[in-house]
Amino acid sequence: MAHDDGYLLDNRKVEAGIRLDALAELFDPWTFRHINELGVGAGWRCWEVGAGGPSVPRWLADRVGGHGRVLVTDIDVSWAGQAASPVVEIRRHDVARDQPPAETFDLVHARLVLVHLIDRETALRSMIESLRPGGVLLVEDADPALQPLACPDEHGPEEHLANRIRNGFRHLLAGRGADLSYGRKLPRLLRDAGLTDVRADAFFPMASPACDVLEAATINQLRDQLITGHHATAAEIDQHLAAIAAGRLDLATAPMISVWGRRPDTTD
Ligand SMILES: C[S@@+](CC[C@H](N)C(=O)[O-])C[C@H]1O[C@@H](n2cnc3c(N)ncnc32)[C@H](O)[C@@H]1O
Repeated sequence: MAHDDGYLLDNRKVEAGIRLDALAELFDPWTFRHINELGVGAGWRCWEVGAGGPSVPRWLADRVGGHGRVLVTDIDVSWAGQAASPVVEIRRHDVARDQPPAETFDLVHARLVLVHLIDRETALRSMIESLRPGGVLLVEDADPALQPLACPDEHGPEEHLANRIRNGFRHLLAGRGADLSYGRKLPRLLRDAGLTDVRADAFFPMASPACDVLEAATINQLRDQLITGHHATAAEIDQHLAAIAAGRLDLATAPMISVWGRRPDTTD
């Protein structure tokens, strides 16, 4: 797959599966609460964009039941594919480059996807155009610049190192075209696109075992790039991984902003 100009943390690496599990543990309860409040139910047709792992597709399939439909897309479906079922269709699809699906949806959802894309505007437009009149869009995306620290309580050298390495990670993301303050822009972007009832909130977990797992997997996946980019030495990365393994760090993720809005139904 020629996606080297895009997504930094591609799904092909072993660490990607660990990262996706950690993301599910940290963010699924938050996501499910939002989707429940949007009224998901039997018979809904949903598009899960950039699904990553199988947990959100499986949960959606359970909610929409046998008469519903869940289209699951990603540029790499190796993990999401486990969710395939008569209700769940898995499709390899680049939301920024490929034509939107030739159908419309009651719910379109993307979590932690658009922030990474260079052409996030096209991707967002494609998702909005895929809503049926009255359908709802839920976009949940990171805003790493809003809270840039791995350890907000920077009380010693290990926390300081963690924050320096997180800074290096942000440089790598930005170098691939990620918008590090994307999350905060979403309410305006949804309103400007004509969606109504636009609302948003934010969430970032701190000091949980899943934060440790996510951090270690991310650092392991980006180890070579952090070293060659002079963001950290091999010894510093090992030191950081050892501090995580010993449970000495209270790690935080970047804030995730959840934004939702409805495509106006002209027949209302
Ligand atoms: C950080 S992961 C998030 C996965 C999942 N949505 C979650 O929150 O657990 C980003 C996902 O977006 C996918 N992705 C990246 N670029 C994409 C694109 N252009 N079109 C569709 N999916 C993409 C990646 O393959 C990966 O599965």
